[in-house]
Amino acid sequence: MKKKISFLLSVSALLIAGCATNQKATAQTTPSLKETFKNDFLIGTAMNTQQIEEKDPAADALIKQQFNAVTPENIMKAEIIQPGWDTYNFDLADKLVAYAQKNNIKVNAHTLIWHSQLPSFMRHMQSADSVKQYFEKHITTVASRYDGKVYSWDVVNEALNEDGTLRNSVFLRNLGDNYIVEAFRLAQKAAPNTLLYYNDYNIEQPKKRAGAIAIIKKIQAAGVRIDGVGIQGHWHMDNPPLQDIEQSIKEFSALGIKVAFTELDLSALPNPRGRANSADISNTAQYNEQANPYTKSFPDSAQQKLAKSYADIFNLFLKYKNNISRVTFWGVDDGQTWLNDFPVRGRTNHPLLFDRQYQPKPAFYSVIETKTKGSSAKAF
Ligand code: XIL
Repeated sequence: MKKKISFLLSVSALLIAGCATNQKATAQTTPSLKETFKNDFLIGTAMNTQQIEEKDPAADALIKQQFNAVTPENIMKAEIIQPGWDTYNFDLADKLVAYAQKNNIKVNAHTLIWHSQLPSFMRHMQSADSVKQYFEKHITTVASRYDGKVYSWDVVNEALNEDGTLRNSVFLRNLGDNYIVEAFRLAQKAAPNTLLYYNDYNIEQPKKRAGAIAIIKKIQAAGVRIDGVGIQGHWHMDNPPLQDIEQSIKEFSALGIKVAFTELDLSALPNPRGRANSADISNTAQYNEQANPYTKSFPDSAQQKLAKSYADIFNLFLKYKNNISRVTFWGVDDGQTWLNDFPVRGRTNHPLLFDRQYQPKPAFYSVIETKTKGSSAKAF
């Protein structure tokens, strides 16, 4: 009897040991994005509230293993961090900073001045004078609190129209067209140890790019610091705009600043008919079944298309690695992506490198291979 028990015990010990080795082997054999690109650029992800509160253990493991930069998806936006004139909500941002410090991750803070996700007290302001006071107080208070704790700020977000003119926002209407320079001036004063970026979507497109270049030159001409430009990178897996991206990297770098890709994702779902590719969060569309084809699975052919587009993009990034500071994905896994609800609510999108089970997709491996198997980037 005794013999039998000890035999069973050793068999189960062997089994447990076997399992542990297997698990270890799997963890060790999944390559790491941040390791793979460590000599090229930072690799980031957006973090949502659940992840910042460490309530998503599977995502947490991936963040620590794969990324060396994070951007808060929402919690540093004005409506959350300053909901009232004298009310600030720093808890989650403080938590994010502590998490990043503990895990040796850099924080890109997002964002100081943006026309969306503003607190209602601010949206209802009547006079230019109160908007000016809000503007100065918000930038100064928030940017100075995190100076030296975050790595970079998206100082101004999405100030441009598609044709390169300035968006008719509450800031433009009340402060005039110098408000972007002033935002950077205030940020520079409040956050002398933080890199300062202008961030926008579609600024790889020629007209909007020209608008961004004009903004950057104006900031520089005023003697104010701007360290980089963030191209959001909300594209589609069918047609990432490779030539425009390449041209943009060249033109922005020529201004003596870094280029970051700050919110990368490649939608796998049809764009509602007649709707231009836009990340404007107010520009939404109605649900219909045909526009939601991959609810049960994401077929092989689509996986391959996504993998090829990501490889094309990363080959280009590697070609210009000296000009690129960071590449950040807008989320860890397909379960959390904002594209499940934008521009149409309630769809099942598949734009990232990890699926809903937090497993690496073929696109993950195709990105890794751009580095490990050498670049095949075409010159355009
Ligand atoms: C999105 C978030 O992902 C969503 O959770 C939120 O509901 C709306 O905003 N450009 C930006 C980001 O700069 O802040 C936006 O993030 C996506 C478009």
